[in-house]
Amino acid sequence: MKNKRILLVIPVLILLLSACGERVKKREVGVVQPPKELEFAVLGKSIHPYWDEVRMGAEAAGKDLGVKVYFYAPSKEDVRAQISQLESYISSKVSGISFGASDPDAIADTIKKAMDMGIPCVAIDTDAPKSERLAYLGTGNYEAGKIAGETLAKVLGGKGKVIILTGSLTALNSLERMQGFKDAVSKYPGIKIVDTVCDYEDQSKAVANAEAALSAHPDLSAFYGVYAFDGPAAALAVERANKAGKIKIVCFDTTPEHMEYIKKGVITATIGQRPYMMGYLSVMLLNNIARAGKEKALMMIPKDKKIDTGVDIVTKDNIDEYRKKLEELGIPVKW
Ligand code: BGC
Repeated sequence: MKNKRILLVIPVLILLLSACGERVKKREVGVVQPPKELEFAVLGKSIHPYWDEVRMGAEAAGKDLGVKVYFYAPSKEDVRAQISQLESYISSKVSGISFGASDPDAIADTIKKAMDMGIPCVAIDTDAPKSERLAYLGTGNYEAGKIAGETLAKVLGGKGKVIILTGSLTALNSLERMQGFKDAVSKYPGIKIVDTVCDYEDQSKAVANAEAALSAHPDLSAFYGVYAFDGPAAALAVERANKAGKIKIVCFDTTPEHMEYIKKGVITATIGQRPYMMGYLSVMLLNNIARAGKEKALMMIPKDKKIDTGVDIVTKDNIDEYRKKLEELGIPVKW
């Protein structure tokens, strides 16, 4: 009988001890647990090859660093969709967010909310200075707009009628590119900006806008394409109207479509931004912030918290040099 009891007690003791051991082990695991896997989120403005390059840059940084990267962009300009995606990044407690704001004022409170919850945010492609974003990485858009204006003024010999095609009336990059352009051409009294039309980053609207502009202004001299949708839309409209080469196009970006039109001489010049670098560097910066803390990580960037990723003026004449330059910078070339 006694032996039987002992035989019963032993397994119970073993069970208790092992449960205790489990508890100890669990607590130890808690102490030495590695930091949560870092996950960064990127918020784009529209579905377009331009944003594919941003995504590829961000994913390349994710691969180099061994961290996860998520990307989202609404199909066209959609401020509400951007805000609701930000909310969902915040509720999944990502480790950092880089974002291109279609409307910097509308998004400011949500960025602040993320920052208050300890999720660092940096602006890319277009700044949102009134939000509490820690930094901006992208083109110096006002200066780039000026470059576009000076380039077009030269091409036009200082006179002609110009229409501006853009994809946003709220995003800061669009406003700055238009302002820079206007300031540059204002030095040429012979140049008149006859209209500014917006497509809200909708491909078919961009083409329809360019076609409507051509029929409303048969004596049009040039298009200024502010966003990546706009140059190719103008080029298509000009080709369809058999006015290729006669109506000049100066625009932004260097997607494969832009480069085809540059080679054919339909787009006269384009301002090449560096979207791949924006994606790559933003994930690198967020990673530094997550690991070293924002004070140390931000010490490494300029005082004004702006990292200018640079631009190039690309024409038919320098397209090969441009390709070489991108390759030297480590930017994959898709054209
Ligand atoms: C702009 C982006 C825009 C993209 C597509 C680029 O030129 O920098 O803000 O979303 O064009 O329209």
